[in-house]
Amino acid sequence: MRSFQPHLFVILGASGDLTSRKLAPALFHLMERHNELRCCHILGVARSDMSDAAFRDSVRDALHERHPEGSDLSAWCDDHVFYQSLGGGGNGYDGLARRIASIEKECGLPGNRVFYLALPPKTFPGTIEALGQANLHKTAGWARLVIEKPFGHDLTSAHALNDLVHRYFSESQIFRIDHYLGKETVQNLLVFRFGNALFESVWHRGQIERVDIQVHESLGVETRAGYYDQSGALRDMVQNHITQLLSLVAMEAPARFDADSIRQEKIKVLESIVPLRPEDVLLGQYAAGDVDGKPVRAYGEETGVPDGSTTETFVRLRMEIANWRWRGVPFILETGKRMPKKRTRIAIRFQPAPVSLFRPYEDTCNVRPNILEITLQPDEGFNLHFDVKQPRMPLRLTPRRLRFRYDEVFGDLPQAYETLLGDVIQGDQTLFVHADEVINSWRLYTPVLEAGLPVHPYAPGSPGPDSAS
Ligand code: BG6
Repeated sequence: MRSFQPHLFVILGASGDLTSRKLAPALFHLMERHNELRCCHILGVARSDMSDAAFRDSVRDALHERHPEGSDLSAWCDDHVFYQSLGGGGNGYDGLARRIASIEKECGLPGNRVFYLALPPKTFPGTIEALGQANLHKTAGWARLVIEKPFGHDLTSAHALNDLVHRYFSESQIFRIDHYLGKETVQNLLVFRFGNALFESVWHRGQIERVDIQVHESLGVETRAGYYDQSGALRDMVQNHITQLLSLVAMEAPARFDADSIRQEKIKVLESIVPLRPEDVLLGQYAAGDVDGKPVRAYGEETGVPDGSTTETFVRLRMEIANWRWRGVPFILETGKRMPKKRTRIAIRFQPAPVSLFRPYEDTCNVRPNILEITLQPDEGFNLHFDVKQPRMPLRLTPRRLRFRYDEVFGDLPQAYETLLGDVIQGDQTLFVHADEVINSWRLYTPVLEAGLPVHPYAPGSPGPDSAS
């Protein structure tokens, strides 16, 4: 039975913007919805010196954005939010261990701990080692470790990071976050496929011609060049978010609706993907140009991007899943920054009708393939495209769609972090990435990263390099 138990939520890297932008708002949303979660205590940890009071104020700012008039959770912060410095007089991780023990004693907590690494990826190994050396994972209650993406930067480093984490935490304690899995529409993929027999009966190579998964962003790299230039679109989006979408679209029905069964099926999909060849991959980088009449800089001229950078901001690749369900069906994965608009969609294109009955009327009766379009953002829902006859003569076909939009029916959707943090606290790993998923994904993409493929320029606001079309 899922429940919120009293615990200490330790945020490592608490002075960074993830805490104020995502984590604190998500925890407050959850507490507003679930009173019983107010048994949670938060300990912010970072290098900088800060008092408990100063950290409480920074956390309250996140709350005030939602409730400018004030909220009863503001007073809650006084005896539930704390801060510990790792630098200066904080005595590092031994000091942290003592502080955790003292908060747990003072607040009557049973020793349940979440350690959230809201840190730059290069500091993950050192932090995990330090937590382990200070024996912080050994507790009378449960301990859970939450790790942000990217988990490693290639196959070797992902193996090394898994080995290190497993030295101190078992797989059932590790929550590798991919925020796409917290999106309501992504979770709905499972319900859509396995709760509606109609779609499942046509979900295979006999009926489907191709599958497109596109994650387009209109923004450029903004202020994140320091991270992004080391990463690029393949590591930043494809290896994790897009591969997760692919697994959910392609997986077999799990034996049960639980974390182990679902993750096993996702792993099987990744194991069946045919190794990528250079000709299956197109990389691009946005050049300078105009968007909506305003000049925008080339990626290479963005603040913090080193001269001559060849980091890709666009990826398009074609892959094949060599299993009974999908052999021969191309999956086209595409993502890019500075694309015409922000849009995430999965398009399932069905086989055309076997016979063209309307051939004598070809100029007016162009039969189009049926497409099921699942839109993940900005307008979450789906469209089913089909042709209808226009009334009267001559015989004329016209495309129409059946349309469903989440917001029209359910209003605002929860933020991904709200869903995911709720699951961490309740110990549900269904929406988190298993060690074997990470490894299989890096196994697929590491050869592409190491192949030194050319990176083609594309105009901002365009659909990518010319050859992408
Ligand atoms: C992040 C990437 O994981 O996802 C960003 O690091 C990207 O580069 C972002 O912009 C996209 O997320 P969303 O939810 O806006 O599609």
